[in-house]
Amino acid sequence: MGEKDQQKFAEGLLQYLNDSPTAYHAVENGAAILRAHGFTQLKETDRWSLKKGGRYFMTRNSSGLIAFTVGEESPEENGFRIIGCHTDSPGLKIKPGPCTVSPDGYVKVNVEVYGGAVLSTWFDRPLAMAGRVIVKKDGGAAGLAEERLIKIEEPVFVLPSLCIHLHKKTDDNNNLNRQTELLPILAMKEEGVEKGDYLLRLLRDKAGIDPAAVLDYELFLYEYEKGIFTGGNREFISASRLDDLSMVYAGLSALAESCKKGAACRVLAAFDNEEVGSTTAQGAHSGLLLHTLNRICKNLGLDDDGYFRVIAHSTSISADLAHAVHPNYSDRHDPENHPVLGGGPVIKYSASQRYATTAFTAAYFMEACERAGVAFQQFVNRNDIPGGSTIGPVMSGLTTIPAVDMGAPILAMHSIREFGAVTDQYDTWKAFLAYYEGC
Ligand code: CO
Repeated sequence: MGEKDQQKFAEGLLQYLNDSPTAYHAVENGAAILRAHGFTQLKETDRWSLKKGGRYFMTRNSSGLIAFTVGEESPEENGFRIIGCHTDSPGLKIKPGPCTVSPDGYVKVNVEVYGGAVLSTWFDRPLAMAGRVIVKKDGGAAGLAEERLIKIEEPVFVLPSLCIHLHKKTDDNNNLNRQTELLPILAMKEEGVEKGDYLLRLLRDKAGIDPAAVLDYELFLYEYEKGIFTGGNREFISASRLDDLSMVYAGLSALAESCKKGAACRVLAAFDNEEVGSTTAQGAHSGLLLHTLNRICKNLGLDDDGYFRVIAHSTSISADLAHAVHPNYSDRHDPENHPVLGGGPVIKYSASQRYATTAFTAAYFMEACERAGVAFQQFVNRNDIPGGSTIGPVMSGLTTIPAVDMGAPILAMHSIREFGAVTDQYDTWKAFLAYYEGC
């Protein structure tokens, strides 16, 4: 695989990031990639009839996705090879009672913070809106509701910062009042328009949704400007939602492009709600993956003993991005473990098991990297800075399948615009492909 493949991969990744402003869109666009590679969509409500060598996927809540291939050999002897990742990203979510009008006549959108967003980065840039709206079907009762994904690709909101001359000493965009200082502006008030109608008008005018049919919505703001390649040699990616859609894309592409013949069942699990603790029906801290693995085994005719043998033969990767050393803040890292952009995928360690990695699980990922011809790096937090966590511990705890926590290195994690290197993304994809194909 030469440079052209790397360029093609990076362009596909950037397209996926730009096309997927919310978890719903990440799942919809992920499903399209899978269908293009011969995967069949299964409904959880239908009876399944899986075949050896078959390629399938299912979605949960339109925001979580599990894709899998059925191995050619005995599952009891070969187990599952699982890559887990997450579809959600920190941001601003529109509340019920979506708009408020200030005494000066500004119409502002009323939002809550979703996850650990770096709020200062949401100021002074055009913001668009996307998500899903639940509408009454054909004017019927609420029981006949249907979901409409919407993406208003227009810069409809801006959250202007306070001009420097009006700052008090205590003003700090990283420590702002999340209610009063975080209300992006939509418009100036118009005579005769109720404040509750501004959002409905937007949905009607920009997304063709009949206001009378709207039952409820889950709508997010997102950065209007697209992600791009940057750097003197275009070696970097500056884009929203690298965490964790770049791992979703790498995992999905690796599964879709992995060779058709394989002994083990390969699984890609893209969970929602990692950024808010994972405890939802579509999150990693749920029965979603466990039940699906069980269902696959039962469908292949295994009894309980066979199922437990499959689990005992399985391994997993928890793929979530890692903090590279920031050149202006290198003292925030452990003195000896310094992952950098361009150095390859990063294995994450934590003695308190906030990352699920063990020496055994690190070893099988290192082995995959070796077969792929990819360098890897190691990360551990400074003892006086706690760092984050991932889906690794809960995914591994619930399934009892060992997991390695890893991810491509980035800077500016949880900023509206994150920053990574093209080679790390491509190398991670190659390592995933080797992991899947190694069985
Ligand atoms: Co993440």
